[in-house]
Amino acid sequence: MPISKKVEKFLSGASFIRKMFEEGERLRAIHGADKVYDFTLGNPNMEPPERFREELKRLALNPVPGMHRYMSNAGYTETRAAVAEVLREQNSLPFGPEHIIMTVGAGGALNVVLKTLLDPGDEVIVIKPYFVEYRFYIDNHGGNVVEIASTTDFKPDLNALAAAITTRTKAVLINSPNNPTGVVYDKDDLDALGRLLKEKEKELGSTIYVISDEPYAKIVYDGVQVPSIFLSIENSIAVTSHSKDLALPGERIGYLAVSPGISDLELMLEGLVFANRTLAL
Ligand SMILES: Cc1ncc(COP(=O)(O)O)c(C=O)c1O
Repeated sequence: MPISKKVEKFLSGASFIRKMFEEGERLRAIHGADKVYDFTLGNPNMEPPERFREELKRLALNPVPGMHRYMSNAGYTETRAAVAEVLREQNSLPFGPEHIIMTVGAGGALNVVLKTLLDPGDEVIVIKPYFVEYRFYIDNHGGNVVEIASTTDFKPDLNALAAAITTRTKAVLINSPNNPTGVVYDKDDLDALGRLLKEKEKELGSTIYVISDEPYAKIVYDGVQVPSIFLSIENSIAVTSHSKDLALPGERIGYLAVSPGISDLELMLEGLVFANRTLAL
C-alpha cells in the first residue's frame, strides 16, 4: 500500500464532498448553472472588491527591494499592527501586533493553533454538525476528536459539553457564524460557555482553550451582531481569513488573534510563531 491506512480511510470518508460537487455539475448540465447553487466546496461566487485588484497592481508596479524575501515568521509587523488596531477598538482590550500572527487562511491558523496546543491523545471537543476538515486538522497534531451534540437550535449543548470534558480536554473548537448551519452564537451563549469552562478548569485543575473559527463573522444580515469571543472567554484564540468576506480563498490570507488575557501568554505566542514556521504553510 503506497499510502498509510489512516490516510486511505480518511480519503474514503471525505469523498462524499467531492461526490456532491460532481452531482452539482451533473445537475447544472441538466437544469442550467443559474438554477443549481454550489455550496459544496465553500467557494465564493462573487469576485473580490475592485480595491483589492488595485492594491495588487500598485504593489506589483512599485516593487520595494526585499518584498519577496522571507518575512518574520509571524508576518509583517505593520499588517499585524493594523489588525490589532481594529481588535483594540472593537473590544477595548490591549491588542498589539504581538497578539496577531498572519497565517495561510483560517485552515492554516487552525493547524498552527492545534500544533501548538496538542500533545498526543489530547482531546478537542467539536460541536455537531461541524466543518468536516476539523477532524483531519485535529488528527494532524495527534489529538482526539470528541464530538458533542448541539441543541435543537444548533447552539452548544452545555450539558453534553460538561459531560464530555475530561482531564485530557485541551480545547473546545467553535464556529460562529456556523458552517453548515448558519447559526450565530449570541453573547449569552459565549458567556455561558465561558462560565462552564471556568468551573471545569477549577474542578480539574487544567486549562481549556476555546478556539473560535470565525471566517464568516462579517457575512451576517438583518442587523445580526457577531459577539467577540474575547469579551466572554479569556483563554481564547480566534482564527479567521479573508477567504469568504473578500472572496479571496485562493490568496490564503488569514490570521490568528490571541486573547491578551490568555494564560501563559508569552510562551503561547512563542509556540504559535514556531508552529507557523515549522508547518511550512
Ligand atoms: C468553518 C470553516 N473554517 C475554516 C475554513 C477554511 O477557510 P480558509 O480558506 O481561510 O482556510 C472554511 C472553509 O470553507 C470553513 O468553512
